[in-house]
Amino acid sequence: MKPEHLDTPAAVIDMARMQKNIARMQAQANMLGVAFRPHVKTSKCLDVVRAQLVAGAHGITVSTLKEAEAFFAAGVEDILYAVGIAPAKLPRALALRRQGCALKLVVDNPTAAAAIAAFGEQHGEIFEVWIEVDTDGHRSGITPEQDTLLEVGRILHENGVMVGGVMTHAGSSYELRDAAALTALAAQERAGCVRAAERLRAAGIACPAVSVGSTPTALAAAQLEGVTELRAGVYVFFDLVMHNVGVCALDDIALSVLTTVIGHQAEKGWAILDAGWMAMSRDRGTSKQAHDFGYGQPCLLNGTPLSGYLVSGANQEHGILSSTRDNAPDEDIAQRFPIGMKLRILPNHACATGAQFPEYHAVSPDGETAVWRRFHGW
Ligand SMILES: Cc1ncc(COP(=O)(O)O)c(C=O)c1O
Repeated sequence: MKPEHLDTPAAVIDMARMQKNIARMQAQANMLGVAFRPHVKTSKCLDVVRAQLVAGAHGITVSTLKEAEAFFAAGVEDILYAVGIAPAKLPRALALRRQGCALKLVVDNPTAAAAIAAFGEQHGEIFEVWIEVDTDGHRSGITPEQDTLLEVGRILHENGVMVGGVMTHAGSSYELRDAAALTALAAQERAGCVRAAERLRAAGIACPAVSVGSTPTALAAAQLEGVTELRAGVYVFFDLVMHNVGVCALDDIALSVLTTVIGHQAEKGWAILDAGWMAMSRDRGTSKQAHDFGYGQPCLLNGTPLSGYLVSGANQEHGILSSTRDNAPDEDIAQRFPIGMKLRILPNHACATGAQFPEYHAVSPDGETAVWRRFHGW
């Protein structure tokens, strides 16, 4: 089926763009001399992840045990669950390991570390745990110089748990837009994570893996000495937030929402679309960035951005397309965007927009579409 015949709204993947993004990040990891472990929470889709593995990725990163279970069932064995484990989820982690999954858990506090050790002892399982390091203060993790780092390391190491490594995610990179600042943050992310590994090793705790990454820092890193692997997720599709950060062009964005014009408010200069926030998501990640794209950047069906227009408002199933010139409504809106016309909207945040849909429609360069399932839940 051609994209113009799909029911709207629909999540559309431009396969050529996606393949280019995958090749770009893999080449970056190769150039830096580290393994690449994509974060699959962006797509939650086996077809996308297969393309990442074929391109050279080693293992995957997941944000939920549901992802771990689904990808393990599909044959991926090396999985980093990169959200601190809630002790009540340990039976699911155990079940995966018992089936042969090389699942790695993450902790950043003594309580969770002790819970894993006790649960492992009770069930005769040697869990592999990576300690989460905070290298930019944006979220969770233990800072490299904190005493807690060695305390957590010892709780694990002395109680039958394998400390497999340290990992960090410099998510504050999303707040930057300057190449030099991104390179500096990538250097900080590397140095902090390597330092944490060195402290653990000096305390007699083996720490083989040193894992860093976010899409902006991965692409900006000048060197990754001491690091063993790079992680990135949103790069596979890119989005308007990443465009504002300066790491992709608009025509690198591989995910868009296909929509139909369903009406007008001509005096206000609005065209009404059948893609509201239920399709685009509520994510307004560009609102505090240099260029606010509203709920997304409309494009023609062929992907050409409609400069001078944005999706300025969204109700559940209605989107409002208007001119970016607030005080000058586009009087020709109804002629320009007739009812029934199909458009594609580039999303603010690809992970959030993808999550609104049960499936993607992947468009190949010859214009044919294939349905790629994606999954939900925890
Ligand atoms: C732990 C962890 N690693 C890697 C990533 C990938 O970051 P990005 O999507 O910027 O590539 C994320 C994203 O949230 C993350 O939480």
